[in-house]
Parts: sequence; structure tokens; C-alpha cells
Amino acid sequence: MLKTFLLCLSFLSLTLAEKFRFDNYSLYKVLPKNVTQVKWIEELQNAEDMFDFWSEPQSHAEYVSILSSPENKSYLESFLKTRGINFEITLPNIQEVIDKETVKKYTRTNTRSMTWDAYYPLEDIYAWIDDLVATHSSVARRIIKGIKISHGSGRKIIFIESAIHSREWITPAVTNYIINELLTSEDEDTKAAARDFDWYIFPVTNPDGYVWTHTEYRLWRKNRRPFGADIGVDLNRNWNNNWLGVGSSGNASTNTYAGPGPFSEEETRTLSEYISSLADKIDLYLSMHSSGQLLLIPFGNTTEPLANYYDAIKIGRRAMGALSVRYGTPYTTGNIAEAIYLATGTSIDWVKEAHQVPLVYCYELRDRGVFGHVLPADQILPSGEETMDSILEMIHQARRLGYMNSGNGLKASILSLAFIFVNFYLH
Ligand SMILES: *[C@@H]1O[C@H](CO)[C@@H](O)[C@H](O)[C@H]1NC(C)=O
Ligand SMILES: *[C@@H]1O[C@H](CO)[C@@H](O)[C@H](O)[C@H]1NC(C)=O
Ligand SMILES: *[C@@H]1O[C@H](CO)[C@@H](O)[C@H](O)[C@H]1NC(C)=O
Ligand SMILES: *[C@@H]1O[C@H](CO)[C@@H](O)[C@H](O)[C@H]1NC(C)=O
Ligand SMILES: *[C@@H]1O[C@H](CO)[C@@H](O)[C@H](O)[C@H]1NC(C)=O
Ligand SMILES: [Zn+2]
Repeated sequence: MLKTFLLCLSFLSLTLAEKFRFDNYSLYKVLPKNVTQVKWIEELQNAEDMFDFWSEPQSHAEYVSILSSPENKSYLESFLKTRGINFEITLPNIQEVIDKETVKKYTRTNTRSMTWDAYYPLEDIYAWIDDLVATHSSVARRIIKGIKISHGSGRKIIFIESAIHSREWITPAVTNYIINELLTSEDEDTKAAARDFDWYIFPVTNPDGYVWTHTEYRLWRKNRRPFGADIGVDLNRNWNNNWLGVGSSGNASTNTYAGPGPFSEEETRTLSEYISSLADKIDLYLSMHSSGQLLLIPFGNTTEPLANYYDAIKIGRRAMGALSVRYGTPYTTGNIAEAIYLATGTSIDWVKEAHQVPLVYCYELRDRGVFGHVLPADQILPSGEETMDSILEMIHQARRLGYMNSGNGLKASILSLAFIFVNFYLH
């Protein structure tokens, strides 16, 4: 008995010891004054593989977030100082912040025990979705799990894809909040939005990566497929639109590896096939990322205003106006290339180009250069609330401009609520 216990204990400490620690890793907020300084930072990014860039040195970048190991801090600081580039250290030791991240377990069958002040592991998110559905239909476990919320047939679709980058923990947290609002809110606008559309929502589209961020390496971004000594494809560079163009890499040891071919990955292939099967009904597609407080529209290969750029920007800006009302959180709206960086093979570009979905947005949720991917859990609820506000305004503004007008409009009658499961299998 005792022996078993000791064995368990040592096994436990062994697995705990294996989890990567970020002791004394520091997050820098670098503040370039002009394009010359941005160019230098870009050279640093290209020349050295020492740093994890959480945001990109792009010409009008207000700041660039760089994570440095303790060994490389003096190199980084002297690089910046000798060039007169200002910087702040927002988090001197990110392991401290990671240690404070509240990760809770969900209590089975009590859907109210999912709260908005903690992050949850994959199995808990899936259990919660199962339980939400359980009272209405029978359930089975799936690998990429999603939920469809539908009040009847003939509706157009709002599709939400989240956590394709696994370390962006705020994205499934906010997405779960949205699901919960759509099912339980007493707010009239929220109830109308829930009624007027079929909502297809996937809180975690990179489940293997997400599990890895909980068990082994908090800051993992890609999926977990091995390529020789390297691991993982950036699933938001793997979609079949301008694949392996600017802003993505053919080198498997980088964080923006586009994969061996477009849709080479199970995650993007199953997801895209599923989206294609629904495409003519999708009115609005949302992709959830963090951070930077940006609302992005296609495309990432050019700053040129393509497709319905001007309408999409107008609707997006107004939605971000609504987002800022509650807590004053400022968001910037633009196409991917103008607002953040050149990037190709992203989900929103593919959804727009392959299926001409009328409105397609990517949220880069909170914050702006302080915590980045390790956003404290006390920001989950406010992030969820303001994001929900913005989605309602997005629908409202879209209708004003003649989008999303099919379906039932603001018809008040409450139809019987049905949940239908959407199942993906990764082979
Ligand atoms: C982190 O830095 C502090 C202060 O320099 C030092 O005392 C401590 O040993 C370091 N921790 C690790 C794990 O390196
Ligand atoms: C950029 O800013 C630095 C520091 O203020 C200054 O020395 C340099 O001349 C500026 N370069 C340009 C091209 O404006
Ligand atoms: C960066 O840190 C690594 C160890 O993590 C070390 O091997 C390398 O020499 C450092 N580079 C510089 C320029 O400090
Ligand atoms: C791939 O990237 C790694 C890390 O940046 C680098 O060390 C390696 O030389 C690159 N390989 C090629 C073929 O460019
Ligand atoms: C950018 O991508 C879009 C969509 O694939 C394409 O229509 C356009 O020609 C591309 N522009 C450039 C400059 O590559
Ligand atoms: Zn992302």
C-alpha cells in the first residue's frame, strides 16, 4: 500500500518536473520611435533565433512584445540600448504570472460550475459542452468538439473558430462565455441574436496543442505533429489561400511553419471540409486569437482594399466602438496586413476567398503588450462581456448595411430550443 503510494508520488513529481518552467523569462514591450528602429528590431528577429516575438515589428507598430530567456536578456537589452530604442519590462518573471493563472476543474453535470474567473483544461471544456447538451440529446466524446445552437430551420449561420493557436488561452474562455450567454442570457438583444441565427461554435480547434499548453509547455502555439526533430504546424498558416506566401515559413523549426502543403493537417482539413459543407449559409465567420486588441479582416497578403473591404471596416469599427463602451478597451480595425503583419494561409482569408462569406473577422483579444498570452484570469469576464457587446453591435450594423437580413429578423416568438452536436474525428 505504502509502496504504491510512494510510487504514485514519485510519478507525480516526475511529471511535474517535466513541465517546462519559464523562470526569469521576461516580457519586453519595445517601443520603436520610427521605421528605422522597427527595421532594426526586424533584423533582430530575422538574424537570431533567441527570442519569441509575441507581436511583429511592423512599420507602424506602437510596440513589439518580445519574450526573452534569462540567458539572452543582456544581449537584447544592449542591442536595444546601443540603438536608442526604448523599452519596458512588463513582466520580469513570467513564471510568476503563469503560477498565478487559475486553472480550475469543472464539476460534472453542474453547468453553472463553469465560471469566468479561471481557465479550464480541454477535458473540462468538453465535459461542459457535453453537459450543456446532455439534457437535450445523447452525447459522445469527440476530439474537436463544437456546439450548434439553433432555434429552428432555415437560418443563416454565425461560425466561431477559437484557439487554433493553443497558447492563446483567453480565446476559449471568451468563446465559452459567448456560448453561455447565447444559452442563458436574459438580455433581449442577446436572446434575439441567439434566435435569429444558427450558431456553430468551436472553442478549441487545436486540441493537441491546447493539452500541451496545460501539461508541458504553457507557450506552445502550433499543433503537435512531428517532423523529424521539429514539432508542429502553425494551423493558421496552413489554409489553402496564398499558402506559404509572405509571413509564413517553410522551416519546420519556426513558429509560423505553414506545413508540408495546404491543408496538410487533420485539424485544418476536417474544419475546412466542414465549413465548405455549410458555406453558402454562413453570414458571419469569426476567428478568435490574442493578443493586441485588434479586429482584422481579409486579406493578409496585401494592404490593398479587396472584396467588401469598406463595408467590413465600417461595420467592424462600429462594433469596436460598442466593445469599448463597457470598460474603455480600445481596439483597432484593419485588414490583417495593415493592422498587424503580412500573413498568408490564414483561416479568414481562406473562408473569404474560397466561399465569399459576406463578413469575416479575426479578433485579437486583450491585451496590448502587458501580459500577452498570459492574461490573468480576472480579465476573462470583462473580455467576454465586451466581446459579446461587440458581436451584437456587429450584427446590428451589418443589418443596417444590408447584410445578415435573411431569416427571422427580430421576430419575438421563442421557438423550442434544440442543441445539435457537431462532431469531428481526427484520424
Ligand atoms: C531568477 O532571478 C533571481 C534574481 O536574479 C535569482 O535569485 C533566481 O535564482 C533566479 N531563478 C532561477 C530559477 O534562475
Ligand atoms: C529615429 O529615431 C531616433 C531616435 O529618436 C533618431 O536618432 C533617428 O534619427 C530617427 N531616424 C529617422 C529616420 O527618423
Ligand atoms: C542565448 O541563450 C542561449 C542559452 O539559452 C545561449 O546558448 C546563447 O549563447 C545566448 N546568446 C546570446 C547572444 O546571449
Ligand atoms: C530553420 O530555422 C532554424 C531556427 O530558426 C534555423 O536554425 C535553421 O537554420 C533553419 N533551417 C533552414 C534550412 O533555413
Ligand atoms: C492577395 O490575395 C488575394 C486573395 O487570394 C488575391 O486576390 C490578390 O491578388 C493577392 N494580392 C497580392 C498583391 O498578392
Ligand atoms: Zn493567434
